[in-house]
Amino acid sequence: MSGRGVQIKTAEQLRLMRAAGLVVAHTLERLVSAVAAGITTGELDRLAEATIRNAGATPSFLGYHGYPGSICTSVNDEIVHGIPGSRALCDGDVLSIDCGAIVAGWHGDAAVTVPVGTIAPGHAQLVRDTHDALWAGIAAMRDGGWLRDIGAAVEALVETRAAAHRAYGMVEEYTGHGIGTEMHQDPDVPNFRTRQKGIRLRPGVVLAIEPMLTLGDPQTELLDDGWTVRSADRSVAAHFEHTVALTPEGPWVLTAVDGGATRLEALGVPHPGPDGPG
Ligand code: MF3
Ligand code: CO
Repeated sequence: MSGRGVQIKTAEQLRLMRAAGLVVAHTLERLVSAVAAGITTGELDRLAEATIRNAGATPSFLGYHGYPGSICTSVNDEIVHGIPGSRALCDGDVLSIDCGAIVAGWHGDAAVTVPVGTIAPGHAQLVRDTHDALWAGIAAMRDGGWLRDIGAAVEALVETRAAAHRAYGMVEEYTGHGIGTEMHQDPDVPNFRTRQKGIRLRPGVVLAIEPMLTLGDPQTELLDDGWTVRSADRSVAAHFEHTVALTPEGPWVLTAVDGGATRLEALGVPHPGPDGPG
């Protein structure tokens, strides 16, 4: 993901990316409403593929470096890239679903973490805090700002929660990424504080921001299936992701049904609204 430079999108290209983002948003909504004890992750995968294809889009994960699913389903101590299969979800599980779709050659990519039935209060707190960390990162995308501002805002939010109730492991072995005509483009997007400023943020920059937090240490390990990443200390993890375009009117959250309007409004961040600038 290095050396190719950052792909700056035109307003017209952003509208195509919005179409892809909405397919991902609606697919995730449908999957979340299907999540219940007893359903298997493979059933969720089949529902995802059908939903994406019925929308006239293509699942971007399927076949990506040989990946066998249309979504990633990561349960409990699994952080990212869990492969859907015969595992039946249980009451109390913490499930992360990551989904990607392509429309007219343009990609959208997003992830949510949801409870299966009733989860432990500490797990629910982890999920809320990881979600808030994502939105803190999104809110830090400003014209003329730096890539580093995003990870710094994520880490600052996590620190306030550490002071308020508990410290989390902030995963640093996986990052977000630029996204456009490919799922993974320059630049890498650290979801944590870094020394390097990184690129300057300008309208037309589109980034997938995706913080991952654990209830323990940040170290990860890769399972024998070659994909599933879990916490090395087996602590429960959460992961949220959005594809976000910076526009002249502020961040446009392409994979949020409302374009990010509700959350950004609450955070006092100017934004273009659900339909983008113009
Ligand atoms: N959404 C993941 C990411 O942000 C990609 C999933 S990997 C795949 O990098 F192999 F499943 F596609
Ligand atoms: Co991603």
